[in-house]
Amino acid sequence: MRTFVYFSSTAKTSGNFPVDRLMDAGRMDIAMHVIINAFFISHSLRDDTVLHLVFYGAPDPPKHIEIHVNQETGLSKKDVAGLIKKILYKYKPDKKTEVVPGCFIEKKSFLNVINELADEGKEIFIMDESGDSIRKTKISENGVFVIGDQEGFPKKELKRLKKKFKLVSVGPKVYFASQVVTILNNEMDLRGF
Ligand SMILES: C[S@@+](CC[C@H](N)C(=O)[O-])C[C@H]1O[C@@H](n2cnc3c(N)ncnc32)[C@H](O)[C@@H]1O
Repeated sequence: MRTFVYFSSTAKTSGNFPVDRLMDAGRMDIAMHVIINAFFISHSLRDDTVLHLVFYGAPDPPKHIEIHVNQETGLSKKDVAGLIKKILYKYKPDKKTEVVPGCFIEKKSFLNVINELADEGKEIFIMDESGDSIRKTKISENGVFVIGDQEGFPKKELKRLKKKFKLVSVGPKVYFASQVVTILNNEMDLRGF
């Protein structure tokens, strides 16, 4: 099972954003591209992938959305934004809610999401162009790849993450978050995971 964590400092934390103006919803467009590149391949969906989205935009941060796609999730490329709206609308305080099969929402901080995955025994990689090359990095099938938003990671969090986890690079250029997801999926496909 491969896992991605996408951090957004700006993506809206309520469902009342317009689906035709995703850029104005705290760059929710980037989150949509990340979802599409995490799960969609030609004529198929990746059911070996888990995606964690952690949003810190207004009005009620943080929100942690966890997506495991299965047949019952009904994920459609045409309406990814509709699914995220629905998940955000169905948030209930003090509990992790499964809104549609395989899609959960709760209030949880970015660092807590990562630390909990590490506590489950998963290997955490912080994606950063200055890190060690992915090509030379040993990765287990249960690797967790943490990706920042249009501004990267907040300085304080990055400092803490750097102390505990390995920084990994997919190349010398700075790519879009969604492109990093595609490159990582390809890398793991090539490794036969
Ligand atoms: C658009 S980039 C962020 C750009 C931001 N201005 C910065 O300098 O961090 C979005 C995220 O993609 C990941 N990323 C981009 N290029 C990468 C690379 N070459 N190797 C590894 N991760 C990369 C990082 O996690 C980054 O936070």
